[in-house]
Amino acid sequence: AETRHYKFDIKFKNVTRLCHTEPIVTANGKFPGPTIHAREGDTVTVKVTNHVTYNVSIHWHGIRQLRTGWADGPAYITQCPIQTGQTFVYNFTITGQRGTLFWHAHILWLRATLYGPIVILPPKGPYPFPKPHKEVILILGEWWNSDTETVINQAMNSGLAPNSSDSHTINGKAGPLFYCPTKDTFALSVEPDKTYLLRIIKALNQEVFFGVANHHLTVVEVDAVYTKPFETKAIVSAPGQTTNALLHTDKKAGRYFMAARVFMDAPIAVDNKTATAILQYTGSSNSLNPVMPLIPALNDTAFSSNFSNALKSLNSPQYPAKVPQSIDRNLFFTVGLALNACPTCINGARPAASVNNISFTMPTIALLQSHYFNISGVFTTDFPDNPPATFNYTGTPPKNLQSSNGTRLSRIPFNSTVQLVLQDTSALTVENHPVHLHGFNFFIVGRGFGNYNPKKDPAKFNLVDPPERNTVGVPTGGWTVIRFRADNPGVWFMHCHLEVHTTWGLKMAFLVENGHGPEQSILPPGKDLPQC
Ligand code: C2O
Repeated sequence: AETRHYKFDIKFKNVTRLCHTEPIVTANGKFPGPTIHAREGDTVTVKVTNHVTYNVSIHWHGIRQLRTGWADGPAYITQCPIQTGQTFVYNFTITGQRGTLFWHAHILWLRATLYGPIVILPPKGPYPFPKPHKEVILILGEWWNSDTETVINQAMNSGLAPNSSDSHTINGKAGPLFYCPTKDTFALSVEPDKTYLLRIIKALNQEVFFGVANHHLTVVEVDAVYTKPFETKAIVSAPGQTTNALLHTDKKAGRYFMAARVFMDAPIAVDNKTATAILQYTGSSNSLNPVMPLIPALNDTAFSSNFSNALKSLNSPQYPAKVPQSIDRNLFFTVGLALNACPTCINGARPAASVNNISFTMPTIALLQSHYFNISGVFTTDFPDNPPATFNYTGTPPKNLQSSNGTRLSRIPFNSTVQLVLQDTSALTVENHPVHLHGFNFFIVGRGFGNYNPKKDPAKFNLVDPPERNTVGVPTGGWTVIRFRADNPGVWFMHCHLEVHTTWGLKMAFLVENGHGPEQSILPPGKDLPQC
């Protein structure tokens, strides 16, 4: 194992997309940002210096951060932000993970432009799938022709939903279906009869289908965990999820579109600003019109469900799925939107998103700091294990619409096994919530539509080879059940990875206690840890 050093200078850069130039926040002037390369077992340091007028923090999404919560990155959760002119060195070791992840800003809406890939190679030896001829990163995002901080501030002041993006992007580019196609297109040239490993990252903001015309993809890894290989015409990826898939270039030489199109089965689904990129076989002519993939329709819930059900951990002797078989803590969290009063807003109300009817209030001192240094009055540890009233989605509407505010944490003893039911409340309308947990991978042991039934549904759980991830889509109008072992002491954020749902309050945090002795305790922070 070695130590790899990176340096991110956070600065504004004028970037032109869709024939529009916008000053955006970048790392080292790059958009998308630089790639972190490492091997499993390596230590990574990233020296981040803030040269912009905003406060900044960076999250290494999916990196477990065993005992090193100080390097996790969510502002006011594990660290105070890096202020203008300040430097902070993130320092972490990659333990028991290999595959594709990504990093992104974790403050305000800076993630809209400040993100980049993380590639973790296995320590030595081969992949558990045929060696690819080449590896290609495809990072999927969205582009706004406006300042994204202004977009969210307008939404919060008006009480309306924020303006949706102007296009989806593949490697920062919208593709030939938009104007300015020559500058705005990512093209990948491939040789015939080879296998390529696509590292597909959904960085933000909406959930998408991704496919390549006439080609199938073989999924081999999700969220940096190997899966049983399975073939599909498209992958489904929520923001925060990563997918490694093999592509065989065994089709007629030519040009094919790769496309990322929104998947949104809520009734408000309108956004369809599909991004495309070109896959071009060597020797084929540039003048050939590319073929468009047959991507599922934007409300194709059945396709998305089948995809989720087909995902299984590899669960081989070398990479066993360590699914907790017994449960110490049984939690039931509702996730959803409601309306709270807002006298100054256009409709007199503003969406409030909550977990168990609690909209999370951001503290002004980082939670991990106040926990570690025993600073009182910053948070409470009385986050409820269940919603305030019995939840009933399919019968009479839930009575518990109103949400309260609070910085309430759920306290978990070290090494307990946790089962968490995530239930969409759909009080306002049915919604899709990609829920991301920091500090852990979890097993997705079950999912379904309507109300979770604690008497019947556990019988159908997969406790053998369920997929292991860090982000899960709670089905629209449905539920999902995850299990994890709380073997990582610290304060760990959990939130919806849809930008505006996080802002509206769909977030909470777990406080995982230290175990016995230094080996099971949070490591001390570095001297350069930012102060609030
Ligand atoms: Cu990728 Cu808390 O986020």
